[in-house]
Amino acid sequence: MIEKRVLLIVSGGIAAYKSLELTRLLKKQGIAVRAVMTESATEFVTPLSLGVITEDHVYGAMFDLKEEREIGHIQLSRQADLIVIAPATANILAKAAAGIADDLATTILLATDKPVLAVPAMNVRMWQHAATRRNLAQLRADGMAIMDPDEGEMACGEYGPGRLPEPHAIVERIIAMLGHFASAQTLASQPDFADIDHRPLYGKRVLVTAGPTHEAIDPVRYIANRSSGRQGFAIAAGAAEMGAEVTLIAGPVHLVTPPGVIRIDIETALEMQAEIDKALPADVAIMVAAVADWRAADVPEQKIKKAGKAPAPLALTENPDILATLAKHKQRPKLLIGFAAETEKIVEHAAAKLAKKGCDWIVANDVSGDVMGGENNAFHIVTKDGVESWPDSPKDVIARKLMEKVADEIGES
Ligand code: C5P
Repeated sequence: MIEKRVLLIVSGGIAAYKSLELTRLLKKQGIAVRAVMTESATEFVTPLSLGVITEDHVYGAMFDLKEEREIGHIQLSRQADLIVIAPATANILAKAAAGIADDLATTILLATDKPVLAVPAMNVRMWQHAATRRNLAQLRADGMAIMDPDEGEMACGEYGPGRLPEPHAIVERIIAMLGHFASAQTLASQPDFADIDHRPLYGKRVLVTAGPTHEAIDPVRYIANRSSGRQGFAIAAGAAEMGAEVTLIAGPVHLVTPPGVIRIDIETALEMQAEIDKALPADVAIMVAAVADWRAADVPEQKIKKAGKAPAPLALTENPDILATLAKHKQRPKLLIGFAAETEKIVEHAAAKLAKKGCDWIVANDVSGDVMGGENNAFHIVTKDGVESWPDSPKDVIARKLMEKVADEIGES
């Protein structure tokens, strides 16, 4: 597996000491960390302590000529997959929002083209101040990802939002942003994961379909849809991470196979159906693919030519409903989950689909926005017991949550 690299910017708040634990946890996940500290951060934690954990030089001074010659701010950013500011003080956020670059950390932020995650931590009044609100809105509009701080008692004795989230929660968010999932082997070698409770899908077979299908019109043209496959791939990755044996049947997409997942590429609905039959039995099937409802009735061997007159109408025929077929299969998985992309009356349509398809859960999502191909998704899980609605979250995060629910349902048996 290619190692992912985080450039961690530590700014000067009382929570700066938590950067040590954060770094330790990231390294445990196989993520390399290089650290940059602002000058005030060094008042709270020493570069020496952080350097011991990163096993690297800790960068700080912008005008250290030796550093600028050997590894300048551009290179620091170029060598990272993700920049994380944790803790991010009101001050560094204000500077970043204004485009001020007066030290190494802020210069990196202004010069980088890499994704940036800010994890703010500050006094509740600073967090609620109109200036901070304004700066955060600006940074979000500029594309920076920002984690909400935790609520609780602060070092200064006040109570409210502003505490740095727990390091493990920051690690989860980083993993989701990096698309980094530890492989089964990596997990097995970690003492925390030797305990089966941490791999609740160990020994279970999970089948996932993802992406669109392409249905040929002639040798060069096809019918397709906007599915990117990202949600299905994230679900397959989450299942593998939780210890399952995962087969991912993927339509034509440009995505990297998640570690530990067996991937089978197909183009058409008929090919997808044939591969599902071969992949059975499975304990769980999660049908995320946006299977084309129709295919061309006849596919000529040669390209259809323009004839200078109105084209012949395209005759279509219906594809088999793979989900409904699986629901009646003699090897029906114990838990069968369908997806429903809807643009209106989301839950109502999903509930009708649950009955029609004969599956156990329908995960409904509203695709009237930019969900297809986008970063985020919101789920409504419709079961015979009712509806559970989960808020808009990054696709990787919501995928893990779904797999946790799956594990709760079938993990014990
Ligand atoms: O009927 P609709 O396409 O809205 O249903 C969506 C669900 O059904 C998804 O889980 C999708 O993978 C599955 N499906 C299927 N075969 C089809 C069409 C959809 O398995 N031909």
